[in-house]
Amino acid sequence: MKIFLDSANLNDLKKAYATNLIDGVTTNPTLASIEGYPSFEKLTHDILSIFTKPMDVVNFEVASLDAKTMIEEGIKLASLSKHVVVKVPVTQDGLIACKELTKRGIRVNVTLCFSPTQALMAAKAGAYFISPFVGRLDDQNEDGMRLIEQIKKIYTNYGMKTQILVASIRGPHHVMEAALLGADACTIPYSVFEKLFRHELTDVGINKFLDDWKKTKFKIK
Ligand code: G3P
Repeated sequence: MKIFLDSANLNDLKKAYATNLIDGVTTNPTLASIEGYPSFEKLTHDILSIFTKPMDVVNFEVASLDAKTMIEEGIKLASLSKHVVVKVPVTQDGLIACKELTKRGIRVNVTLCFSPTQALMAAKAGAYFISPFVGRLDDQNEDGMRLIEQIKKIYTNYGMKTQILVASIRGPHHVMEAALLGADACTIPYSVFEKLFRHELTDVGINKFLDDWKKTKFKIK
């Protein structure tokens, strides 16, 4: 399963990238707005300068609502680098833009997905990724992971190639459930990324091993 960082924070992106355990990044207008970049050009430049390995994926989102402008914005974003995947919202216009951008060889991430039929239509429009927002569904007392299960079933039924990118992740439990359901990717905040490695019993175990090792006076080198 691919792991993306859901962030526009350069420090967090660099720290996560240095582990060689992330496959890319997703950004959105909200994430862009909280980091204080002087311009969108600076944001795209700085983020693209981190993600340089051949298979790295960098998701940038369009910021318009009509298909024509979304297509123009998508073409511009994709021209920045071969790593770019263009995010469009799952609206009628968004899917028209998705189809056209896909036809031009540009990978599209259809975002803000909250229903199985939205995911079905995104796949029909040729989306490279569909981004269901599980946390926001959970927040309003719906079942975010049930949506992933439904989309997985639909895509499997019809051999649809669109990859399921689980978004709006609130904790490691979402990552685990996504992996169990066979989702293709997760995008996570840095705070969740750190938690994926951690377990209290691992820390307890390490301390015990180190204490006992000191007692032996052994040396490895
Ligand atoms: O990248 C979009 C999505 O992950 C946003 O998550 O936390 O704003 O619901 P959140």
